[in-house]
Amino acid sequence: MMAAMTVKTVVDDIADGGAGIKVFTLVDPDRWELPPFKPGAHIDVHLANGLIRTYSLCNDPTDNKRYVLAVKREADGRGGSIYLHDEIKRGGVIGVSLPRGGVPLPSHLTGFAFIAGGIGVTPFLSVAAHLRRIGRNDFVLHVISRGPPPLADMLAPLLQSGHVVIHDTWAGPRPDIVQLVGRPLADALIACCGPVSMIDAFEQASCDWPAVHVHVERFVAPPLPVDPQARAYVLALARSGQEIAVAAGESMLLDVPASCCGGICGACKVEWLQGEPVHRDRALSPAERERSLLVCVAGSASERLVLDL
Ligand code: FES
Repeated sequence: MMAAMTVKTVVDDIADGGAGIKVFTLVDPDRWELPPFKPGAHIDVHLANGLIRTYSLCNDPTDNKRYVLAVKREADGRGGSIYLHDEIKRGGVIGVSLPRGGVPLPSHLTGFAFIAGGIGVTPFLSVAAHLRRIGRNDFVLHVISRGPPPLADMLAPLLQSGHVVIHDTWAGPRPDIVQLVGRPLADALIACCGPVSMIDAFEQASCDWPAVHVHVERFVAPPLPVDPQARAYVLALARSGQEIAVAAGESMLLDVPASCCGGICGACKVEWLQGEPVHRDRALSPAERERSLLVCVAGSASERLVLDL
């Protein structure tokens, strides 16, 4: 896999986040400021075993000398969380990408509701810190968990200020996502991060909302449906002059950094120059798609697609 440009960081602290979660604090080796990030943004963590994994940043974006990541050990996962839990020690060096993404928080809106399932609370921690710092109190964070919620220390100030509602499904009934989403509002934003089933329910419940007021953060890529329109095409790399024949339904087979391999994290973003890409991702905005595509899921509707590589 092509080596990506990374920012060198050092593990300054590893804390227990409860429920099989470790909280990693990454800093610049000389304690300089790190590249800035938006509320709800994420970074790719480049592990020494070659894996690249994407995690949300949990700290306040103004706290720019640290990146704080909460990682749940997924025994049946793809290996990134196990490596972080078992191999990474305090003082270890980790390369990370520049921060990407974030939850849109237009200032003219008058309310924000965030729905999180378990470890899906992570992007909303930096969002909540940001909103509280700028004096916005018109938000609520619903945390749905089996048992006590994860990251209790980070949630404590938000619980105290009355911004968090805990839905412990061991102690009570599972909340109705339709009720949490509520009726469409023209001046509010709703967002969700959690397991696939919760996101599916959220997307269904919010289908009458204006699309720009609905935001989804995925940490598990949904299965990519077979595209009956998929066609064979020639991929031309403008800078190297290379031409690659891609069979119908095949991925682009390019040697670029990749993390989720399912069109949700943005790690494999490249710019395209000519042709007609078929995007199939769940990460790029319509404006971004005008110039970029995500290699892991994109195809081509034209015979030839030219990339800026
Ligand atoms: S690797 Fe995550 S979007 Fe392609």
